[in-house]
Amino acid sequence: MIQKSIYPNIPVRMPLVRLKTLFPLVALFSIAFFFWCVDRYDRAALMRFKRPIDHMSNQAPVPGQAQAPSHPQIQVQPQTLSSGCEVDPASAPPLPFNEWLVAKNYTRAYFRPHHVSPKTEFGSLEDVNTPVLAPFVEMDRGTRLPPQYNTMPCPPIIDVDVAADYDVEETSKLLFGLATTVDRLERLLPSLLYSFGDSKAGIIVLVPPTDDDLSQQEMYFRSRGLDVTIQSSPLEFTARYFGLVEAFDEHIRTVRPNTTWVSFIDDDTFFLSLPSIAEQLKLFDATKKHYIGSLSEASWQVDTFGHIAFGGAGVFVSVPLLEVLTTVYDECQSWGEQPGDQKLGQCIERFGNTPLTIWPSLYQMDMQGEVDGVYESGRRIDSLHHWNSWYTKDVVKMSTVAAAAGRKSVLRRWVFDQEEFINNATGQSIRTFWVLTNGYSIVKYTYLEGTPDDVINFDHTEKTWEEDPRGYEDSLGPLRPKDQEGVIKERYLLKDAVVVGDNVHQFYTREEPDSHRVIEIVWLGPRNGGGAGVGGGQTKY
Ligand SMILES: *[C@@H]1O[C@H](CO)[C@@H](O)[C@H](O)[C@H]1NC(C)=O
Ligand SMILES: *[C@@H]1O[C@H](CO)[C@@H](O)[C@H](O)[C@H]1NC(C)=O
Ligand SMILES: *[C@@H]1O[C@H](CO)[C@@H](O)[C@H](O)[C@H]1NC(C)=O
Repeated sequence: MIQKSIYPNIPVRMPLVRLKTLFPLVALFSIAFFFWCVDRYDRAALMRFKRPIDHMSNQAPVPGQAQAPSHPQIQVQPQTLSSGCEVDPASAPPLPFNEWLVAKNYTRAYFRPHHVSPKTEFGSLEDVNTPVLAPFVEMDRGTRLPPQYNTMPCPPIIDVDVAADYDVEETSKLLFGLATTVDRLERLLPSLLYSFGDSKAGIIVLVPPTDDDLSQQEMYFRSRGLDVTIQSSPLEFTARYFGLVEAFDEHIRTVRPNTTWVSFIDDDTFFLSLPSIAEQLKLFDATKKHYIGSLSEASWQVDTFGHIAFGGAGVFVSVPLLEVLTTVYDECQSWGEQPGDQKLGQCIERFGNTPLTIWPSLYQMDMQGEVDGVYESGRRIDSLHHWNSWYTKDVVKMSTVAAAAGRKSVLRRWVFDQEEFINNATGQSIRTFWVLTNGYSIVKYTYLEGTPDDVINFDHTEKTWEEDPRGYEDSLGPLRPKDQEGVIKERYLLKDAVVVGDNVHQFYTREEPDSHRVIEIVWLGPRNGGGAGVGGGQTKY
């Protein structure tokens, strides 16, 4: 009842009323109107971003009904103080409660992605030439913005081009396989859903022998959007990984005859865009034998395990090579207890007559602690691994922005608000600028007086993680040090990201001794979702 009452047009839809029924109706309508008014103040904030003005004139949107794409999704509310703004500067941010509770210094910026051809290439650090961030204001507990927001000028909206994702059709030729347990599969479901949900790829999961009803468990995952086939395998874990060779072969013969590539993955292998993966695989002739993957970034890992495709990054094998592996399966499987990806590599080396093709944008992520430097490197990243073991990063939160700006916008970098302050006494200047790594961080750089402009080369990877840099120069180099003289770095890390209507609100936070600081970036997504396969389907551009 209360739920419905927010649509004031509901009584209007009723047939002509008899006088007798009018009184209860008026009473009902008054109650409904009361709740609507109560509700409105809070909701208005969110609605402002997503409701076109015509929705406000008693036309409740019909769920599921496609809107004309030409409608701008943001409109002025006639009653707001800052009329004429595309977005209301005074609208409250949809804060998670833990952010709501704490006093903070807060600011916000709006980005509007324009989806262009999937083939568009961008620089690894793109410039934004218009001012982005308003000054921070102190905000007390709660979502109410301080009064000065009511009189603020219209906030700028930063228009940026983002590449739409490729069509998912091509992913139908991919068959993924992993060895894990049902428990872990459930825990990792969100990241698996981001990687594979809405694609047309198949996934085979080999689990240890169990009394559980596997078809029920399969239904559990399928009903949540993950197209999996779960099979039990009596083999030990490492052998089970190699056991995928047989499982792939059988599944291709019986279920997915059109498969051209199989991929061995771990349950925590995270793909930023499966359609991009499929598109890149088109560069290879899938009727030939191919073994494609990535070495560990750490040279000591490669020294230990060999020149193999490391499993966590994702290993791609064309069907003709899989056929060879099937014929020698028993022999390779009998080789012992080595890790599955190593056994696979050794089996291919011995019998496959196929060299490893390195795909450097697949990341095994063999590093611990602060991995900021890799995520912020601006390098192309197609897969990520170890994000909930060797280090902790919520890759699903990171990717939330795909719902408005598409998968290929994740981890893209923009530099903005470059400013220079001249010290008249010395004639030297202090320069500041900000770098957004979408979904990961915003870093404010300050170059102190006397620091050369080119002190940081943003094509180099900042070495933030713990291990000895020498092991990583080959894969991630050139590296640059974390601390550089004359440079102050203030890093805001993504704390949360939420989807509100077509928009994504990211919250980047930073702790300072005297201040909790929050930057909200609002991505104003196109109507019906901006991310291919995330939030409503393929983006047209
Ligand atoms: C395999 O591809 C063919 C030709 O494109 C198509 O007609 C067929 O439906 C596909 N089979 C499956 C099981 O998807
Ligand atoms: C520095 O010089 C500029 C131009 O001469 C002047 O506008 C500015 O106020 C001066 N700043 C300070 C801090 O003296
Ligand atoms: C806001 O920032 C100022 C300047 O850094 C600081 O003094 C103040 O305590 C901060 N307030 C909050 C609520 O974080």
